[in-house]
This record gives sequence, C-alpha cells and structure tokens, in this order.
Amino acid sequence: MVAAGARKGLTDFYAKEAKRLGYVARSAFKLLELSDRFGILRKGAHVLDLGCHPGAWTQVACRALGHPDEGGGVLGVDLRETELGTLRHVDRRARFAVADATTLCEKRLRALRGGDGDGDGDGDGDESIATRRRTRPFTVVLSDMAPSTTGAADVDAARSYELAEAAVRIALGERALDGGSLVVKLLEGPGGGKADLQAVCARAFDRVRWYRPRATRRDSSEVFLVARGRR
Ligand SMILES: C[S@@+](CC[C@H](N)C(=O)[O-])C[C@H]1O[C@@H](n2cnc3c(N)ncnc32)[C@H](O)[C@@H]1O
Repeated sequence: MVAAGARKGLTDFYAKEAKRLGYVARSAFKLLELSDRFGILRKGAHVLDLGCHPGAWTQVACRALGHPDEGGGVLGVDLRETELGTLRHVDRRARFAVADATTLCEKRLRALRGGDGDGDGDGDGDESIATRRRTRPFTVVLSDMAPSTTGAADVDAARSYELAEAAVRIALGERALDGGSLVVKLLEGPGGGKADLQAVCARAFDRVRWYRPRATRRDSSEVFLVARGRR
C-alpha cells in the first residue's frame, strides 16, 4: 500500500509540474531528463519528433533550440493532429504533420520538412532556402511512439517494436542524423526485440544506452534507447 501511495505521489507530482510549467503532458519530464543526462537537445538543432501528439516533447525540443535567431527546427509527426497554436514554449520553428511513421519514406519526410521555419529566412519564396531545409540532415531523431495497448504484454511489445524499428530505420536513412542522436521508446515484453535494436544501433552509433527516466510510471514497461554519435 505504501509503495502504491508513493508511486501515485510521484505521478501526481509530474502531472502538477507539467501544468505549472505549461507543458501539455507529464511526458515532458522524460525528455528533459534524457536530454540533460545525455546531452541530446542543443541550440540550433534540427529535430524530428515521431509520435509527437499532444506535443510535450515538441515543447521541450523547441524550447531547447534557444532564441529564434539560433535557427534549428522541430518537425513533429503523429497519426493524430497536433494543435500548434495552443502550445506554450513553441515558436515558428515547430511544425506538425499527420503521417504514419511506419510508412514514412525519405521523399515524404523531405516534403514535410519543406516549410519548416528555421530562422534562415522564411516565406520569401527562395527556392534554394527551401531546398536546403528539405535536404539538411536532422541532428536529433526522437520517438515516443506507442501503440494502442491491449494489455497482452507480448502483443504490446511486438507492436512497440515495430514502431521503434520504424524510428531506427528513419534515423539511419540516407540523409538523416548526420553525426546526431536518436532516442527511441520501446515497451519491453516477451520477444520484445531489445537486443536487435541495440545491435543495429551499436553498428551505426558511437554510444548506445538503455535508460528509464524517473517520470516513467513504475508499472510501465517502457524503456528508452539512447544512441549518440551517428557514424
Ligand atoms: C505517448 S504518445 C506521445 C506523447 C508525446 N511524445 C508528448 O510528449 O506529447 C504516443 C503517440 O504515438 C503515436 N503513434 C502511434 N503509432 C504511430 C505511428 N505509426 N506513426 C506516428 N505516430 C504514431 C500515437 O498517436 C500517440 O500520439
């Protein structure tokens, strides 16, 4: 009973803090911790945020870009529409798109990026600027994507693995993530594929770690792969 009470206390703490600080979800604290600990988000970064709805990670990422003059940008992608206008901490460098990450190809990703306002000049119709935006590598790929859970640990883990695999595929794409970092959520379970993801990332990144942020609920099976230094 005590442990359950303590867990609830911690959950309520993050929910209250999120509200107080203007984040739309308590998940903001997971990315804040991951980024602080592993140095993921930087000024002027170009961030792809997969599974962005309702937008808390985008808020954290956009805030970390620093002053709009520093440049950078965040492209949030989700199956669900995310409202930019109502979010605090985001500016014109953030952009949302509705898409399924499991079928997202390089060409479509570039098209989605085309209009991202990144402080290099905006809305001036200059084709070379638009082209540069579309083709510049992301420096950070984040995935907090999660399937609709069924309660069956093996099914949920398998679906989560598909999403994590899609995020890794995108991050390892031809132009994505030159020298950058990748953070991917995985729901662990029987046959969950953790070792496979680790092996693929270890070949492509200098450092690979698994980490569970403090804001993760104790009864959650989620864990985050953090890969840095894309080779
Ligand atoms: C835990 S929520 C993300 C929370 C978000 N990071 C935040 O901080 O506000 C997981 C999201 O993954 C999205 N998702 C699930 N499957 C997806 C897919 N195939 N492509 C894109 N997004 C997906 C869901 O729609 C859901 O919004």
